[in-house]
Amino acid sequence: MHTIGIIGFGGMGEWHGKQLLTIPDEFKLAAVHDINPARNEHARQLGLTAYETLEEIFADQSIESVILAVPNNFHKELSISALKAGKHVICEKPVMMNTADLEAVLAVSKETGKAFSVHQNRRWDRDYLIVKKLLDEGTIGQPFYIESRVQGSKGIPGDWRCEKIAGGGMLFDWGVHLIDQMLQLVDSPVVDVYAHLLSVKFPGVDDNFKLTLRFANNVSALVEVDTYTFINLPRWHVSGTSGTAQVDDFACHGKVAKANTLSVHWDEGIVYTEAGPTRTMAPRAKESIEELPLPLVTSDAKDYYRQFAAAVLRGTPLPVTDQQMLRVMKVIDAAFESEARHQSIAVNI
Ligand SMILES: NC(=O)c1ccc[n+]([C@@H]2O[C@H](COP(=O)([O-])OP(=O)(O)OC[C@H]3O[C@@H](n4cnc5c(N)ncnc54)[C@H](O)[C@@H]3O)[C@@H](O)[C@H]2O)c1
Repeated sequence: MHTIGIIGFGGMGEWHGKQLLTIPDEFKLAAVHDINPARNEHARQLGLTAYETLEEIFADQSIESVILAVPNNFHKELSISALKAGKHVICEKPVMMNTADLEAVLAVSKETGKAFSVHQNRRWDRDYLIVKKLLDEGTIGQPFYIESRVQGSKGIPGDWRCEKIAGGGMLFDWGVHLIDQMLQLVDSPVVDVYAHLLSVKFPGVDDNFKLTLRFANNVSALVEVDTYTFINLPRWHVSGTSGTAQVDDFACHGKVAKANTLSVHWDEGIVYTEAGPTRTMAPRAKESIEELPLPLVTSDAKDYYRQFAAAVLRGTPLPVTDQQMLRVMKVIDAAFESEARHQSIAVNI
């Protein structure tokens, strides 16, 4: 049994609470604290203990670990004070707003001997796990392009996410998830980062962006987050040396298509546009393509909490390690630098 407190009981804090309450044999949710008294009252109405002050939740000796689910600009200060108060810390993403802040927090984690990790829950999303399985099993050969994107059309929810000072913008939002997933998929250092961040509807923060990563093994990755797109592209599109995989959406529709013969008959198919012929872009003959369904995968996102508790209790690896957190943060730093300088940034991450 691992005893948890939640600091910040807004949308995500409440989600964590609900998740933990479904596994009462493994976790005890001792108390929550929010700076907004109305949220503490809401927690009490749900039957939870809520403290009005940070001091009270830190003083509760039954609480071993705290989850920080507060706006991004409070992650650093609260992580440091929680670690110094003797609590292990699960910090919501983005783990910090830059690499230097993360290094400072990791130093405190080391000093205090208390565990620190970030909630990269999207590692348990099925769309990602399907792509991971396809690549691990070599179903489409060696990947050379990987595109990962999420797209909405409603803009950014009108709260602190629209404010630069609060850590708003999509690079810090979905961006950190998609970058983390990409770094898990490609086993090679990132050597080049190029980002184009746009403020289409929300001045001051990136509400749409495209980020390209070149890996040392020559895999090229595109990470894209849009909040103002009305016709969606696929969630994943992966090109490999023996085929292509596409996951259309979060519901995991999609397919794998592979060449079942290496030789093609060039003279069979010519496509004529208004302006001329093309053999290169003419479709293959149907019988030379094999289509497969996407593999089935199962997932339990509560394994994140289980892995964190095991790391604290038994010293097994944290669900997201220091190195993994640092790599994502360094890519984010390079992305902001790329946008500021309008050029790609050579890195070794
Ligand atoms: N991993 C995910 O899937 C996911 C999804 C959504 C949000 N998040 C992250 O969770 C965090 C919170 O986001 P949210 O959507 O819950 O925001 P939110 O605005 O719904 O909730 C934030 C809560 O924190 C409280 N708060 C603010 N400052 C505080 C402080 N100093 N001490 C205590 N409480 C404070 C606010 O009163 C509010 O209730 C962010 O870092 C966000 O990036 C992660």
